[in-house]
Amino acid sequence: MNPVTSRNQAYAREIAARAVPGLPADFRWGVATAAYQIEGAAAEDGRTPSIWDTYCRVPGMVVRGENGDVACDHYHRMPEDVRLIADLGVDTYRFSLAWPRIQPGGRGPANAKGLDFYKRLLDELEAGDVTPWITLYHWDLPQELEDAGGWPARDTAYRFAEYAALAHDAFGDRVKHWTTLNEPWCSAMLGYAHGNQAPGRKDFGAAVRAVHHLLLGHGLAARHIRGTAAARGDALELGITLNLGTATPETDSHEDAEACRRADGMGRRLYLDPLVKGVYPEDVVADLALQGVALPVEEGDLEVISTPLDVLGVNFYRGALFSGVTEDGSPVDADGLPVTRGVERDLPRTAMDWEITPTALTDLLVGLEADYGLPTVVTENGAAFDDTVAEDGRIHDADRTTYLADHVDAVAAARAAGADVRGYFAWSLMDNFEWSYGYDKRFGIVRVDYDTQERTLKDSALWYRDTIRLTRNTDHD
Ligand code: FCB
Repeated sequence: MNPVTSRNQAYAREIAARAVPGLPADFRWGVATAAYQIEGAAAEDGRTPSIWDTYCRVPGMVVRGENGDVACDHYHRMPEDVRLIADLGVDTYRFSLAWPRIQPGGRGPANAKGLDFYKRLLDELEAGDVTPWITLYHWDLPQELEDAGGWPARDTAYRFAEYAALAHDAFGDRVKHWTTLNEPWCSAMLGYAHGNQAPGRKDFGAAVRAVHHLLLGHGLAARHIRGTAAARGDALELGITLNLGTATPETDSHEDAEACRRADGMGRRLYLDPLVKGVYPEDVVADLALQGVALPVEEGDLEVISTPLDVLGVNFYRGALFSGVTEDGSPVDADGLPVTRGVERDLPRTAMDWEITPTALTDLLVGLEADYGLPTVVTENGAAFDDTVAEDGRIHDADRTTYLADHVDAVAAARAAGADVRGYFAWSLMDNFEWSYGYDKRFGIVRVDYDTQERTLKDSALWYRDTIRLTRNTDHD
């Protein structure tokens, strides 16, 4: 039996108690969701299709052909969901705005009904004393903009900045925390190179162009938001969220070190160097040239991209081991390119088949502090497991509790080592539409019964609530 799943709830509580002392009373605790994964109401109140609505309808792209038409029906159950969030005792709720709800078709004025939904959400959060943390783009590009070229086209960056301005103009006076993009690596690489996320294209050159235009869109939006907030005197904490991991070499060979340099280059430095230092990393640009592709940088772009950030959002799920040779020991692949090969380890895994590597989170956060020096917040961390509902109706998800507790512990260890980590948001508030995995993979600390839309707090949610409460008390004592 998987050693993680065999641990019991008492053990999980024990590690919770252990994690508490490392975190201060003002540490920010949150839960996170994304619009397409929970809202449903896909064709209501003027919302138009996004690339995900389209992608879900392509046979074979999503498990069981599922889609986000209804999802958790959050659009209609929002007040009840906010009560759930408030009862967990979290300070912060990270959610995303649906671009095609706010600006249908990706051009033109704001849709009043779309804005209205988020206004009501902000009202409910305020009543529940929960701080809103808005993500502007969590992957739902209006389909019309994909038809016009999508992220590989430069114009999409300007369209994004325009939409960001509509949203910030509407809510900037009541929302301080703004994240421009969620995981641009996924939008670019999974969406345009691997094809296993929307829009499902398989063109590496297009994906690399998408990287630059996502960063440019971020920068243009960041500039506008900074300028407006300053002019209006609105409080602002501006950031971007990246999916980050660690790259560990399998051996101490030169090839394995090079494989890690390339993996870290494509996954981390390609985004953070331009964002923080205003330059693309030379070695990554050279690696790309070797593959015949280039970033379409125009004059002034890097200055825009490096608009100052207040906080870096870190989504962490796992670290990885890399080898620089093929299984038969060759340092080059069939195309004559250097090998960057992920190596599987004999570690406990989640239902996604992802290795569980909490100490990698400590290493990542400490490394980010050293390399970039920005305050960080873990904007997503969590795990899918095959939950079962017990006879008493409860969900004894000790494996998820253990995963969360070990990662909270890893955050405390990073802080003890000097990393300025200011918050932790569990992914996810509730089970939801897990992209190409459909509803099959459950990441929630709250269970959703998709037949009845009933929500049930899993044991991990109870643990999270207790941990937050204890952390605050411990520091006050
Ligand atoms: C991240 C996404 C989030 C969710 C988790 C499991 O990459 O940002 O929407 O799917 O993975």
